[in-house]
Amino acid sequence: MKTRLTEMLGIDAPIICGGMMRVGTAELAAAASNAGALGVMTALTLPTPALLEAEIEKCKSLTDRPFAVNLTVGVVSTKINYDDYVDVICKSGVKVVETAGRSPEPFMEAFNAHEIKVIHKCVAVRHALKAERLGVAAVSIDGFECAGHPGEEDVTCLVLIPAAAKKLTVPVIASGGFADGRGLAAALALGAEGINMGTRFMVTQEAPIHEGIKQKIVEMDETQTSLIFRSFRNTARVYKNSVAEQVVEIEKAGGDFGQVHELVSGKNQDVAWTTGNIDAGMVTVGMCGGLIDDIPTCAELVDTIVSDAEQIIQERLYGITNAA
Ligand SMILES: Cc1cc2nc3c(=O)[nH]c(=O)nc-3n(C[C@H](O)[C@H](O)[C@H](O)COP(=O)(O)O)c2cc1C
Repeated sequence: MKTRLTEMLGIDAPIICGGMMRVGTAELAAAASNAGALGVMTALTLPTPALLEAEIEKCKSLTDRPFAVNLTVGVVSTKINYDDYVDVICKSGVKVVETAGRSPEPFMEAFNAHEIKVIHKCVAVRHALKAERLGVAAVSIDGFECAGHPGEEDVTCLVLIPAAAKKLTVPVIASGGFADGRGLAAALALGAEGINMGTRFMVTQEAPIHEGIKQKIVEMDETQTSLIFRSFRNTARVYKNSVAEQVVEIEKAGGDFGQVHELVSGKNQDVAWTTGNIDAGMVTVGMCGGLIDDIPTCAELVDTIVSDAEQIIQERLYGITNAA
């Protein structure tokens, strides 16, 4: 499959494994890249810039294919010194960065000076247009279905992706709700040049999380996510577990972030990721968990998605339009 995205990045499949806090390690990114997609390591998973430098070196040793680093600004903590992370990324030789959270504006000069292509991930067409004006190479648009932060406007990909594709000149990557070949074929039909997936890559052999969590996602259906932090205007889509239910109740009663802080802490999330106890903390998952029913390797996943999408386009869609 060739799209403007595969051509621009030098990858085989129009698929990106999106940045994932605590999940986007060198091993997962390299496995996604070796499978022909674009693997993305998540900078803030490493507590210091020096550790990020080492993780990027590890990723380079695991793949000779292109991979990217995700830099999420502002969502996790405002105490982070982003300039030091940007410095490490710029000096590392990485050629692609996925920015998210806030505008990439403060870092564009440094990335441009090092010829790093920026893919900015956002949740609204106006944010995508602003990023395009800043000179990003592509935009990923996260629809309401996505894991993590879908924004506050609740527009699903079925409308958001064509609305973005109509107005933007740079390639649009559809993100949120994509998990299989049907999704890839649909995204291409909507005007996207590829798909970005988080939840689906989390349920692969190489994802560095406990099998128990992967199994819970295999078992879940599409109704088993919750929106938390709505009242703080920092909405997050997570697995509907006892933690999410408690947070929603506290918010309904008018509670502030201080009252949910401990429940959603990184420490508790780590307990869930490492023990497989889905109720131990907040677990970021998207609606497409309902479409996932296996735990393949990244290579099996990417091959299946591409071949299923090709079959849908060539046989089903072509068959419908050429029906006698
Ligand atoms: C466990 C997990 C952690 C995530 N952490 C981040 C993050 O730190 N930064 C970011 O930009 N996106 C993050 N995301 C969002 C993904 O990169 C991607 O945009 C999203 O998962 C797409 O929706 P999908 O899950 O339906 O594929 C995360 C997603 C998951 C599942």
